Amino acid sequence: MPSLIAIVASYLIGSLSFAVIVSKALGMADPRSYGSKNPGATNVLRSGNKGAALATLLLDAIKGWVPVFLIHRFGAQWGLGEGVAALAGLAAFLGHLYPVFFGFQGGKGVATAAGVLVGVAPWLGLATGATWLIIAVFFRYSSLSSLVAAFFAPAYYLIGGGIAWPLDRTVLIALIVMSLLLIWRHRENIRRLAAGTESKLGSKKKQD
Ligand code: G3P
Repeated sequence: MPSLIAIVASYLIGSLSFAVIVSKALGMADPRSYGSKNPGATNVLRSGNKGAALATLLLDAIKGWVPVFLIHRFGAQWGLGEGVAALAGLAAFLGHLYPVFFGFQGGKGVATAAGVLVGVAPWLGLATGATWLIIAVFFRYSSLSSLVAAFFAPAYYLIGGGIAWPLDRTVLIALIVMSLLLIWRHRENIRRLAAGTESKLGSKKKQD
């Protein structure tokens, strides 16, 4: 029962779509109405308001990190371990993708997944974040960076297992599911990347 409560609570936290909340609070246009129409930090950046994009990025990441961190820190007394922490992270990620408070029309989950990874193990988050950054610096596509990082995140966990931390099968499965869903949510981006029409970081151009 405590694990079910933790997972449902995590889903509800994940359902807070901060791109929409921050934009509304700042009197900006709804990010679902411009650019890629995605309620995420990259699209908020297209509005030209870097502060709003940064706030969205941090808040969306924090909502992924919080459940995992809390379960790691306090879960033992209710019998909640690594696996439930990762499942709660996955639930927060699902909340971001399919938010109950926003008609189940959510984002692609990159910032939230990053928060979950930092919660699972800070240097898993760091390695995946560094991967994102390297691709972004060289290619200037947020989506491509996210796709490459999503591919590597479970691999890093797998490689780290036995070396840096004991491998937990539930955590590995949660990470794989998260990456697969993240890639699936980027299918339009993949099409645009293939067609050469994806907008680069820093560009404010509207997309179809
Ligand atoms: O954070 C999502 C990013 O990978 C792509 O966003 O707005 O370009 O579809 P967007």
